[in-house]
Amino acid sequence: MRHFLDLLDVSRDEIVHLLHEAAELKAGQERGQRKPVLLGRVLGLVFEKPSLRTRVSFQTAIAQLGGASVFLPGNETGLGSRESVPDFARTMSQYVDAVVLRTFSHQTIETFAAHATCPVINGLSDYSHPCQALGDLLTMQEVFGDVAGRTVVFVGDGNNVARSLAVGCGKLGAKFILAAPAGYGFDEPFLRVYRQQVPQGELLMNGEPAHAVAKADVIYTDVWASMGQEAERDERRRQFASYQVNGALMALAPKHARVMHCLPAHREEEVTSEVLDGDRSVVFQQAGNRMHAQKALLKWLLT
Ligand code: CP
Ligand code: NVA
Repeated sequence: MRHFLDLLDVSRDEIVHLLHEAAELKAGQERGQRKPVLLGRVLGLVFEKPSLRTRVSFQTAIAQLGGASVFLPGNETGLGSRESVPDFARTMSQYVDAVVLRTFSHQTIETFAAHATCPVINGLSDYSHPCQALGDLLTMQEVFGDVAGRTVVFVGDGNNVARSLAVGCGKLGAKFILAAPAGYGFDEPFLRVYRQQVPQGELLMNGEPAHAVAKADVIYTDVWASMGQEAERDERRRQFASYQVNGALMALAPKHARVMHCLPAHREEEVTSEVLDGDRSVVFQQAGNRMHAQKALLKWLLT
């Protein structure tokens, strides 16, 4: 039995397989094919934080594959408060075939997985967002034909989304440049694990967005304050003020460069509407791809 807690645990070949499968499933669906390969299977979702994309794309993915889903808001079920995380995991994993967890602390997902008897999927933690990275890589593959050899410049916070994308890019041979203000880059423990597990990865953290985007194929951004960091929002607004992805920054990037964002976006904060809605933005294609990537993931974990 496999879990999907982090892209660090997934090999290059496995990621390539998942992307290939996702592209096939997407093409099949566009031809009107929906094979019920997960007939009768049930996916449980336990979310401590809000979600549109992750929740709906997983629930529709399992339904389109012939299965069903149960959604539990973590605060109502008392994950870790009404009963311990290990007790919750041991019980719930007898009812469902896989669980998607969205938590504040990554440790909660690891503890849950250590006690679950079914596959556990990280649907976002404070540390990583591997399902997002899968959809992002699928989108890059569609847009550029291949991920290898591309340069992704992430302008903003070295957060959960950035970590997972950096790992995915490193595994597939794309260069990843983080342009973050001092103090908001990748932390040392992550960099250590990255160097160990992705020794071939090209990862740079050289601050200046205007300089970094000059050779970008993808300019990626995300909110400056993630869920759980609301109290830091004003301070972060000040720190990130010169890290907005806007028309002026895009003018410094190659013509073919595309804009990506995991969404939800804070318009006119980390990205302007002009850029988000402009013809170089692929953010809604990217959002749509979450479902196709996760169908491949569910098929891989459950068959
Ligand atoms: N990108 C993403 O994970 O969106 P949600 O928070 O809406 O699930
Ligand atoms: N970094 C953001 C991503 C939301 C999908 C957050 O954690 O809130």
